Amino acid sequence: MNIQNELLSIIQDVPNFPKEGVIFKDINPLLRDPVAMKKVIAEMVGFARELQVQNIVGIESRGFFFGLPLALQMNLPFIAARKKGKLPGIVVNESYNLEYGSDSIEIQKSALNIGERYLIVDDVIATGGTAKACSNIIEKSGAQVVGFSFLIELAFLRGRDLLQNSAYKFPIQSL
Ligand code: PRP
Ligand code: MG
Repeated sequence: MNIQNELLSIIQDVPNFPKEGVIFKDINPLLRDPVAMKKVIAEMVGFARELQVQNIVGIESRGFFFGLPLALQMNLPFIAARKKGKLPGIVVNESYNLEYGSDSIEIQKSALNIGERYLIVDDVIATGGTAKACSNIIEKSGAQVVGFSFLIELAFLRGRDLLQNSAYKFPIQSL
């Protein structure tokens, strides 16, 4: 079985969670499967190598499950993009819109090195708002976003389009 079909069989659709009308993608069966997890990380390593990534950014919280093992496997720094108010010291913040209201994420300024190459990792891209906010933090700090890696892409929400700008099409991996 190819990795895509394997993931489709492992990740479970949960209707009406966390609220009525939403189909939740439950990745916990994948997290419990070390053989499949290693395949996922290997796919991400292949993508990140091509892009000559120097830093891996994982988005709180579910992005940590994939970003950290990827960084360790590649001997690269892992950087946590955290929800507002969780990181000490000087942080760079960016807000993004939710269905109702807004939220924001932050990265420590000391983790953002001018000119270096950053890959953003998360479990899911839905509207793309979270990943876009993360990429804005990196770019306004003078560092470089070289791509995005997601386990799951909810393609019908067209989050991919939000990540692109008119000048440059970022490489986006979704497994
Ligand atoms: C989910 C998911 C992505 C984000 C995708 O995270 O893990 O991070 O939403 O949505 P978007 O593309 O519309 O921005 P959530 O905020 O539910 O938090 P969690 O990872 O801590 O569970
Ligand atoms: Mg998340």
